[in-house]
Amino acid sequence: MIELAPSILSADFARLGEQVQAAREGGASLIHFDVMDGHFVPNLTIGPPVLRSLRKATDLPIDCHLMIESPDQFIPEFADAGADWISVHQEVCRHLNRTLHLIRSHDVLAGVVINPATPVETLTEVLDLVDYVLVMSVNPGFGGQKFLTSAVHKIRRLHDMRAQRGLNYRIEVDGGIALDTVAEVVRAGAEILVAGNAVFGEGDPTTNARRLLKTATEAILLKV
Ligand code: DX5
Ligand code: ZN
Repeated sequence: MIELAPSILSADFARLGEQVQAAREGGASLIHFDVMDGHFVPNLTIGPPVLRSLRKATDLPIDCHLMIESPDQFIPEFADAGADWISVHQEVCRHLNRTLHLIRSHDVLAGVVINPATPVETLTEVLDLVDYVLVMSVNPGFGGQKFLTSAVHKIRRLHDMRAQRGLNYRIEVDGGIALDTVAEVVRAGAEILVAGNAVFGEGDPTTNARRLLKTATEAILLKV
């Protein structure tokens, strides 16, 4: 099943509850929450206080994407603030195995993220520890960037590795997902689609979400 996880980075933060509800009406089943620290990525965003408020405003699971240098330090707080899913970047974790165990110890789904320059093979030893793998299809830091097609072969590779090893992690993709890019990622095997600008940019989030999901689902049905 294809799931849509709108990224609130492109939402109107003064109307966050309302915007998330609008995306939900369009079929969104997960909310993507982008955390940036100004070190790992050249931007600053939101943290636990906003997560706590959002937790009260929606019953959808919240998927926290931590783009921060020291995730271990903050994982307990994000879990306590209401995260249902937490992902960390392979590039910042010196002890990735330990960090993934830390996430799991809080009864939160554990994910690992790879940047465009990071090969899938760096995850070989942790794939049995993750609930999902997030493939970045832009360099993290900002919404509204252009989709990088190099993500497609990584998604395909993760899809094949999962079958070969009998694992069951889910495959998520993040960055530049829109009506013109969604078909190729779902055909490659992406199951969770993060979209910021395409949902909360121009137009109505409900219609935008519905269209994106429809396009994704049709791409799968028409897959040959
Ligand atoms: C980028 C973030 C993304 C971003 C996606 O660093 O991780 O989640 O908000 O935004 P779009 O869909 O606009 O590329
Ligand atoms: Zn993200």
